[in-house]
Amino acid sequence: MPTLSARGAQIPVIGFGTSQLGNCGEIVATALKLGYRHIDTAWKYGTEQGVGDGIKASGVPRKDIFLVTKVSHEYLKADAFAHSVEESLERLQTDYVDLLFVHWPAIDGTPLAETMKALAKAKRDGKARHIGVANFNIALVEDAMRLCPEPLSVLQAEYHPYLDQGKVLAYCRKAGLAFMAYCPLGRGRLFKDPVLAEIARAKGRSLAQVALRWLVQQGNIAPIPRSSNPQHMAESLNVFDFSLTDAEMKRIHALARPDGRIANPAGRAPKWD
Ligand SMILES: NC(=O)c1ccc[n+]([C@@H]2O[C@H](COP(=O)([O-])OP(=O)(O)OC[C@H]3O[C@@H](n4cnc5c(N)ncnc54)[C@H](OP(=O)(O)O)[C@@H]3O)[C@@H](O)[C@H]2O)c1
Repeated sequence: MPTLSARGAQIPVIGFGTSQLGNCGEIVATALKLGYRHIDTAWKYGTEQGVGDGIKASGVPRKDIFLVTKVSHEYLKADAFAHSVEESLERLQTDYVDLLFVHWPAIDGTPLAETMKALAKAKRDGKARHIGVANFNIALVEDAMRLCPEPLSVLQAEYHPYLDQGKVLAYCRKAGLAFMAYCPLGRGRLFKDPVLAEIARAKGRSLAQVALRWLVQQGNIAPIPRSSNPQHMAESLNVFDFSLTDAEMKRIHALARPDGRIANPAGRAPKWD
């Protein structure tokens, strides 16, 4: 599996998403046996215990897995943050995560400086090897990088063919941040798309593989598809032995639409770029 490098982090390019998977021990063990080495969870998903169980059951050594979790927006004050990290580690049955995110920006007035110090402390205490932010707009990422005593490595945000993230991707490249793409399959919304279906037919690949290939071929992007179907899981890993032409890449870029965003919780989402 190819990796993305960002400030010392080596991130397996295709990750495995676990939101909405509930008690997912068996699913995660299957994903690891199929070859996934990057697992994305969050305190908020309620899947950390399942992820921890799945890692144990898989027999894959912890050190070979790039494990990611997130602190929810309710816990961004210093004490609550540290407590949330402890809970996550306990549920994940590990001493550290490879990457720790702030899941969404604060909406209760918690100063960003306080949260960034708490995030940096988790890194300095060895509880997170690398740190990053999710669902921050460019202005917030810039503030976070300025205020955080430790370097940030990754921005996680929504990205798929129906959403134009050109500005954010250009910013991440310039700032040296890797971009982790969530909802890479548009949470299933892409599956009826005629252009993607036509390209998939022409390539003899599945539509999901074409959508994921389009993401990874852009460079500096790690998509994290979620699946509970082993055949889909295996398919999504297998996107490194074909490529899309420039014309195919452009056709897929042209699918972006103004209403393409899926994760946009009112009152919590920042003003998107
Ligand atoms: N930071 C954040 O705020 C945030 C927000 C949203 C998501 N995320 C992360 O990103 C992950 C992925 O996003 P998501 O779960 O919203 O949606 P997604 O991965 O875009 O789509 C998941 C859907 O695609 C289907 N699927 C997956 N692989 C497939 C394949 N190869 N062929 C056909 N269908 C396939 C799955 O069905 P089957 O189970 O039937 O395969 C499922 O219905 C999440 O699980 C989570 O870890 C983060």
